[in-house]
Amino acid sequence: MERREVSFRIYRYNPQVDRTPFYDNFRIAVEKGITILRALNHIKEHLEPRLTFRAFCQAGICGSCAVRINGVSKLACTTQVWDELGGDGEHTILIEPLNNLEVVRDLVVDINPIMDKLKENYSWVKPAIPQEKMGRKEHIVSDGEFEAINAASDCILCGSCYSECSMMEVNRSYISPPVLVKAFRMNNDSRDTLACERLERVSSDHGLWDCAHCHKCMEHCTKNIPIMDGIHRLREEAFERGMTDSEGARHAQAFFDDIRDVGRLREVTLPLRTKGMIGSLGMVPLAVKMGLKGRTPPLWVRPIPDIDRVSEIYSRLEASREDAAEASNPSHGRTPLSPPYPVGGK
Ligand code: SF4
Ligand code: SF4
Ligand code: FES
Repeated sequence: MERREVSFRIYRYNPQVDRTPFYDNFRIAVEKGITILRALNHIKEHLEPRLTFRAFCQAGICGSCAVRINGVSKLACTTQVWDELGGDGEHTILIEPLNNLEVVRDLVVDINPIMDKLKENYSWVKPAIPQEKMGRKEHIVSDGEFEAINAASDCILCGSCYSECSMMEVNRSYISPPVLVKAFRMNNDSRDTLACERLERVSSDHGLWDCAHCHKCMEHCTKNIPIMDGIHRLREEAFERGMTDSEGARHAQAFFDDIRDVGRLREVTLPLRTKGMIGSLGMVPLAVKMGLKGRTPPLWVRPIPDIDRVSEIYSRLEASREDAAEASNPSHGRTPLSPPYPVGGK
């Protein structure tokens, strides 16, 4: 069995005794096939019993062992030490706690903000069957209905996407990707009766419309869930249900209209269409500043030369949406989330 000496540089912090966080280095011999979690267990058992981290199932199911490995949020129990070694003979692996959550101790973070957001946003199924009849009557979910929520149901609440989210980094009140995944999952459950209230809740301030479309959550999801598809579907559902009276919805509609009509943004009127007359007043100083620097966007925006091609894209999109709606489960009207990348593709 191949063996190598590997250094683990591990974030340490006990708020009760340490003034500031620091890093500890541990060098151990590791065999090929060993996971990061087993290496952490070895360090705890043989070198530093105070090293603190969470883990339970050791099989990528419970979601408790997520940490940042070489700067990327991953599950320690499914990440191979060998996969994290540099190709240049550099055998040091950096292990840190998840981002965007407070450190309780070493690699353990406080996940209460995620739990609170799940509660605030009704992240559970409220069935139509009255409480007193629960357990006496079965509510069968068809294969097609389950397919619509299959991918989103895989979420193990590991927090990796929460840690990688760009919006969380600037606004801790942001609803966060795992909560949006759960909202999509519950809203598409054929037994649920809370869809409208839930959607209203997730569309409010710091919610659905604040997502910056950076796709980082999806890139780093430990269960390969197409999170962005879920976010887009929730936005579409908000439009379908007429929940368009919010800054985020108006902003999205203005983008959609501008690209369709002229192929670029009509920046001068964008704040007015998004924030309304009164809301836009706060932007006057910025507009004046930009004017003084000669950076005022044009008042009249001509359509781009290839606007016909843009119109063609819009028509194709519309047609594919109609096809998808037809192909979806007729009893529930939802299409399943597809994997983010073509299966077997690059
Ligand atoms: S796409 Fe949205 S939810 Fe996902 S990481 Fe970026 S800002 Fe966060
Ligand atoms: S969506 Fe993916 S990364 Fe985010 S909490 Fe769920 S399983 Fe983890
Ligand atoms: S220990 Fe359960 S997912 Fe890693």
